[in-house]
Formats: sequence, structure tokens, C-alpha cells
Amino acid sequence: MSWTITETNQLDDMATDRLGNSFLLGNGYFGYRGTLEEYTKEQKTAAIVSGLYDRVGGLWREPINFPNGGFIQVVYQNQPLHAKTSRVEQHSQTLDLHHAVHDRHTVFLTDDGNRLSVHARRFVSSARLHLLCIQYTIESSRDCELVVRSGIDGDVWDLNGPHLCDFQPEVHQPLITLSAISQELHVPIAVCENTVGPGTSQTCVEAGKRILRQIRLPMKANQAQTLDKFVAIHSAKDTDNPLLAGQSLCQEAARVGFDSLLNEHCAVWEARWKRCDLQITGDAKAQLALRFSMYHLLAIAPAHTDRASIPARGLSGQVYKGGIFWDTEIFMLPFFAFEFPEIARNLLMYRFHTLDGARRKAREYGFRGAYYAWESQDSGDDACTEFNVTDVFTKRPIRTYFRDKQVHISADIAHAIWTYSSITGDDTLLLDGGAEVIYECARFLLTRLYYSREKNRYEILDVTGPDEYHERVHNNAFTNWMAAHTFEICLHLTVFLQERYPAQAEALLEKIDFQKDLEAIREVSGQVYRPAPDPQTMIIPQFDGYLALEDIALDELLRRKLDPNEYLGGGNGLATTTQIIKQADVILALHILGEKHSREVVAANWDYYEPRTEQGSSLSTCAYALTAAHIGKVAAAYKYFITTATIDLTGDSIQYVGPLYIGGTHPAANGGAWMAAVFGFCGIHWSGRTLTIDPHLPALWSEVHVPLTIHGQSLRLSVSKHEVTIQAVQPFHGEILVQVLQEVHALPQKEKLSIPLPASESKP
Ligand code: BGC
Repeated sequence: MSWTITETNQLDDMATDRLGNSFLLGNGYFGYRGTLEEYTKEQKTAAIVSGLYDRVGGLWREPINFPNGGFIQVVYQNQPLHAKTSRVEQHSQTLDLHHAVHDRHTVFLTDDGNRLSVHARRFVSSARLHLLCIQYTIESSRDCELVVRSGIDGDVWDLNGPHLCDFQPEVHQPLITLSAISQELHVPIAVCENTVGPGTSQTCVEAGKRILRQIRLPMKANQAQTLDKFVAIHSAKDTDNPLLAGQSLCQEAARVGFDSLLNEHCAVWEARWKRCDLQITGDAKAQLALRFSMYHLLAIAPAHTDRASIPARGLSGQVYKGGIFWDTEIFMLPFFAFEFPEIARNLLMYRFHTLDGARRKAREYGFRGAYYAWESQDSGDDACTEFNVTDVFTKRPIRTYFRDKQVHISADIAHAIWTYSSITGDDTLLLDGGAEVIYECARFLLTRLYYSREKNRYEILDVTGPDEYHERVHNNAFTNWMAAHTFEICLHLTVFLQERYPAQAEALLEKIDFQKDLEAIREVSGQVYRPAPDPQTMIIPQFDGYLALEDIALDELLRRKLDPNEYLGGGNGLATTTQIIKQADVILALHILGEKHSREVVAANWDYYEPRTEQGSSLSTCAYALTAAHIGKVAAAYKYFITTATIDLTGDSIQYVGPLYIGGTHPAANGGAWMAAVFGFCGIHWSGRTLTIDPHLPALWSEVHVPLTIHGQSLRLSVSKHEVTIQAVQPFHGEILVQVLQEVHALPQKEKLSIPLPASESKP
């Protein structure tokens, strides 16, 4: 149950954009948007390959959208059928989350009263990374002849393209192919296609970059005809000869056949769900939304490489330049670390491989160590520009300081590496580069400190915290806390390495010449200013002077807008001089590092910041959900959880900033939904030694089953309103401590540990 999403008769332009995102298929190597087979660039068709970027002239560098090998169009009496312009009697799109298979059913009614029904089933193979398979079945209510135009459409949707040139359409019987090279780095790419089935075909080339086979298909009334289409996508980053690799894959695919390819693909997804499926009893809506969120994370995760990570808009297009942000480390990594540690490791090794880019950025700004890119691509150099938003009134670009001032990114990465090591118990990441990244991040933050003689403390000035509406502030609580935490990690790491791996520890300190900086960190670590709760109000100021800004209600501020798309931050933004914030900032800090603070402090800050937060970023609502659950505001937590988990189902995310299109999928929210369920409602917390479970289940949830892997050990947890149970899947070494209701238990080797919970009422 709760494994499929279906949309019927959603064919307007807004729905087309939305479904393009929600019905996305992917295998980590490439993402294929949930558009229909006859669609073209106007409907935002896209096949985005992970980690491959291109820049044209002075425009933004962004991912390459590959020629669309999935193109199929039916022509009836010289009229091409198109779901958006032809007469459609019935239409539906379905995504089976369990197997990552997309189905489309459309019944067209032609002018002369013929009914043509089309069923296309497709998947992006998770067993063969370069392969897209489509099975296209057509039925006519009368005898007739159809022409099916099936091929590769190189005229693609680009935000800042065109990224490909030198198109070479070719026929290599029985295949057709389209090769091209990228503009900036001259990377050859190739898309190969094979359509197998009845009919006689001829090929044609349109406008030099569309190669099609025109298949004449005699139809008998009510007798379906089926074509199987195999598409291979390669670039010279994957193989020496993308064209040859594609040809051999397409031929191989035709030999294996659609059904067997589908079976092997489904087996991969079934195995994944066995590992991570979180089951909720009593709330089918939440169940579906959560599976949808996990599906999207898995569809775009680079399980096959540690040279790429997950961009903030996934593989759904070129939005945000295909950049990898802190979104991955803070919002997605926990899911992977607890469910697929090998993928989490890839994501973090990507940061090691891009360390030199971060070193270059630190130098560029006059600092040392690693200042990670705000928007990272393949080299780790920052793709974020100085002007990211356009003023809707003057049409002039607005100077933003995301690139220059969001220094918390380096702390976020150090934190994520440490968290991974703590959850997985895997030291190899630290030894293979993770420790070096942590040291270089700490070094950068050290050089970013300012010593206030007057206050005898170290401060961090002129930064932008998570709330991007207030730029260039002093002592942003989130940033200061995370920086201080990075110094602590750096010191713990040193002790850990010296105890366990003394030779490697020494070699690393020498290699990066870190001894002096380490001593400096030891000295300053305790003196870093960590904005604390006010003794009376318990409020933690988001930054110096925040509480003195105009305190205006959010709706009143929004009423001041002169244009619905006007940007609220930046120099002249309406929010800049007020306490209205874009997204969770202090609240996120309390989630990540709030352990030392009481529930009263969390509650006071939640009550203060929540009405002042616009939730203008998809990263925000999960933080409010998590913390609300923690303080027992279960109904509010549930509201924010549902908003987070359904963001790409409802399409309720912000689509434009100024005139800039920012739609796409929201993997940080997908990861956030999982965190809200696991850390929030189930109250699961891993301290590095003890697994604490402190549930606050929503009213509808009678039971939740959570599979988790900690230190290589698979655990099955079950949380209900009356009981917590936990069992190890295999016998384990050492000791696993479980804390429920202040009592610590050692997990037995074989039996289930069951701990009854007292009856409690959830507070709204
Ligand atoms: C948010 C950032 C986020 C970025 C990418 C922005 O709108 O403010 O925190 O990293 O989107 O998701």
C-alpha cells in the first residue's frame, strides 16, 4: 500500500512543470524529467547527467541537458498527437515508487472520431546506469495507418545554454545516434537509440539536431502494437568513446529485452526498500509522502561514484546551476548515513575531491584553509556569483553575499564528516581524506575569527547565516555555534587519530603543516563567542542587533510588497530591516547543537522565531517540524512535516525569485522529511555511544517501523504510543546502549528489547 502516485488529466502548463519534477526518474548517473514522450523543450523535457557542467560565454555554468532520446510522437492523418494540444479523453501519469517505474496512459480522440490510446511505461535503469527504457503501446479503435516518430531530440531546454554544439546525427543500423560536444570543455557526448517492434521505418534528420525514425504502423482495430525503445547516454567523462559505448549498450539492451531489463531494475529498487522502508501505521498520506521523499533521494544519489554529490535541485534541471550546497550535508546526509552509509561516504568523499577548490576560495578571500563553495560543481570552485537575484523593479542584478559570507558551509561539512564517522563507525573516511577536510575547515574558521579585546572573546564578523535575508551580520548564532563545534571536532579528531592511528596522524599534520594551527585552535576554542539564551526571555539573538530590528508581523510585511515576486533580502529588501527571516536559523542550530539547552529554551525560541519565519526556503519547515516534535508540539510538528514531505507533490514551493525560475525537486526537503519522522516524531538520537528514543508520535500514527544501520549493525526499531521495541538483525560485537525514559539498557544479542511507555497526551 501507499506506493504509487497518480495524477489524472493534469495537462496545464503549471502541472506540466510540477509533474516534470514529481515524476522524475533517476539512477544517480542521470535524471529524466516526468514529461510525456511527445514533449519537447517547451514542456521542459530534460535528461541531466550528474557532475557534467558547461558554461557558455559569460552566462552561468550549469549542468548539460542531454539530447532527449526518449522522444516519441504518433502522427495520425498527418496530425501529430500531443497531450497539450490534441483532444484528450483520458489521461493519467503514475509513478510506482517501489520500482521506480513511470506509466502514462492517454486516450486521444481524433477529429474523425477515432480513439487512439497510448500507454508508455518507462524506467531509468538502476542496474545499467546509462540506460533509459520505454515500452510504448498504441491501440486504435479503427483500422488505420499511423506514423510513429521515435528518436533523439537535440533541441533541448536550457536556462543558460546552448551547451552542445557540433551535432552529428548518424544511422548505425539498427541504431540511430546523436553525438555532440560541450561548448566550454569540449567534452564529447553521445545519445544512442534503438526502437524494436513492428512496422517499417525510415530515418530523417531535422534542423541538424533531431534524428528520428518514422515508423509506418498499420493498425487493426483494437489490436495493440508495442514498440520497445532503448536509449543510452554517455559522455567522454565516463568512457573513451561515448558513441561506441552507447551503441553496444543499446544493442545489448535489445538482446536482453524490455522485460528482463525491467526485472533487474526492479530488483535493485526492492533491495533498497528492504533496507530503508520506514512504515507508518495509521496514516497513509504521511506514509506515501515519506516514501516519495525517500524515493527522490535514492533516485538522484550517486551510489556509483564519489566524484559527484547531490545538487540542491537534484537532477531535475539546471536550476541553481546544478550546484551542491550545504543542503546535502545538513539535510540529506543523515538519511544516507543511517540507511545507506556507502552513499553517505561517496557524498563526503566528493568534498575531499573538491578540497583544492575550497582552498583556492579561502585564498581568494585572504584566508587559509578550506572555504567551501556555496555552490559547488565538479572542481569545487564556487559557481555562486555575486549577483544572484534581479530586482523586479529596476531589472538590475542585486548584489548578494551568499558566496562571500556564508562561511558556515565549511563548518557544516566538518560536522557532516564527524557525524558520518559517529554513525557508521567507519574510520576509513577520516583516513582517506575526511580528517584533512576537517582540519582545513577548522583552519579556515580560525583565520576568520576576530578577537575582541574589550569582550575578551573571539567573534565572527560580517557573515550571512542560513537566513539569507540578513546579510553581512556579526555573530550569527548558527555560524558561531557551528564554528565552535568545528574546533571541538578538530580537537577530538586529533586525540582519536593519535590514539588509533598515530602514524597517519603525524603524517597528516606534517603534510598540511597543521601543528601551529592546531595549537592555536586549542587555545581559542573555549573562547569563541556562542550567543546564549537571554536569562529572562531565553531568546537567543540570531545575530548582534537582531532583536532591535523592527518587529513586524509577517503578513503585514508581505502587504508592503509592490510586486509579488519582489526579493525580500539584499540591500533594499523589505525584510532586511525587520525581524522577519527567510528560514530556520537559530531553530536549526538548536536542532543540531541544542543538546546543552533545555526544552524550555527550545520552546521559547520556537515560539519566538516561528511567527517571524517566512519559510521562504524548502530547508526551513523540517527544522520547525523536528524541534516542535522535540518540545511536544506534535500538531504543529505534523503540519510542518507534511509541508516538507509533500513539497514536490503539491508543487507549493517557491518557483521564482525575482524573475528567476527556481523550480525543480527539493532533495533537502526530502531528507528533512525523513529527519522529521525519525529524529522528530520517533525522537531518535545517536550520541556516538547511546541510542536515545523519545517518541512524540502524531495523533494518527499508531506505530512506526524504522530500520537503521549503526556501526554496520542493522537494527529494527518499532515505536508506538505504548512501547518502543528494538532488535538487532544479526549478532553484533561490542555493546549497543539504548536509552528510553532516562533508563539505559544494553541491547540483547538476539531477543527483542521492549520498553513500555507511559500513557501520554500529545500537546497541540
Ligand atoms: C536557501 C539556501 C539553500 C539554497 C539551495 C536557498 O533559497 O536560502 O539555504 O542552500 O536555497 O537549496
